Amino acid sequence: MKTTLVINPKGGAGKTTVAINLASYFATSGIPTTVMDYDPQGSSLNWLRSRAIDAPKIHGANGAPGKFGQLRSFEMYVPPETRHLIVDPPAGVSGVLLHELLDRANAILVPLVPSVIDLHATGNFLRELMAMGRMKTGNIRVAVVANKVRRSMPAYPPLQQLLDALGLKLLARLIDSDIYMKTAETGAGIFEMNAAASAECKQFLPIAEWVAQEPRLAEAAVVCDLARTRAA
Ligand SMILES: Nc1ncnc2c1ncn2[C@@H]1O[C@H](COP(=O)(O)OP(=O)(O)OP(=O)(O)O)[C@@H](O)[C@H]1O
Ligand SMILES: [Mg+2]
Repeated sequence: MKTTLVINPKGGAGKTTVAINLASYFATSGIPTTVMDYDPQGSSLNWLRSRAIDAPKIHGANGAPGKFGQLRSFEMYVPPETRHLIVDPPAGVSGVLLHELLDRANAILVPLVPSVIDLHATGNFLRELMAMGRMKTGNIRVAVVANKVRRSMPAYPPLQQLLDALGLKLLARLIDSDIYMKTAETGAGIFEMNAAASAECKQFLPIAEWVAQEPRLAEAAVVCDLARTRAA
């Protein structure tokens, strides 16, 4: 099982959006997938609940602390057949929980909005992250996703400068698009939509391929084609 942590302490950067679309990508490719939601707001689990009955199955696990100190052992269950576990933590996660999440992850995805305010907040987190022993030994992979990228400003030089300084990879640029909100409302992912989402699918594919560690999967091409043909 591969565990992918989608993290950024800054709120609204796109953690849940990346997590649920990644889950929907793997599920649509027939790969057993679980989303573990650590956010008390339960955004990923809420999305899962709104999924169509006949949509490819994604297991939901609840890692958020329970009210009145309830035990979460049952809700945290991850089916043994799971091949991709995608972890969606809340904003501002720190301390023991942060270290636990980092310890369990094979790969870390950091979505961030290219703006001075977000870059300042996330830059500090990325510097601390990359200074940790496990990142230095290279046994955990880290990549950044620029999210909510404006069409009028596709490149943001301060982001590239930060990434170059830290030796980090800009994996993908996800455009600011209503499709993400529309799909989320129906419990779907962009790979389960019609041709209207094909640009978003193409932008998202490098993320899925990086997580899967398989260059341009045949399945990936099929999924993108599927998105296109479903509308036809
Ligand atoms: N590329 C995008 N284009 C347009 N809207 C987006 C995009 N990515 C995310 N959003 C929207 O921005 C809002 C915040 O995104 P999301 O919930 O994924 O962020 P988050 O990091 O999980 O937030 P939180 O820190 O509160 O958990 C949501 O309404 C989501 O639909
Ligand atoms: Mg979230």
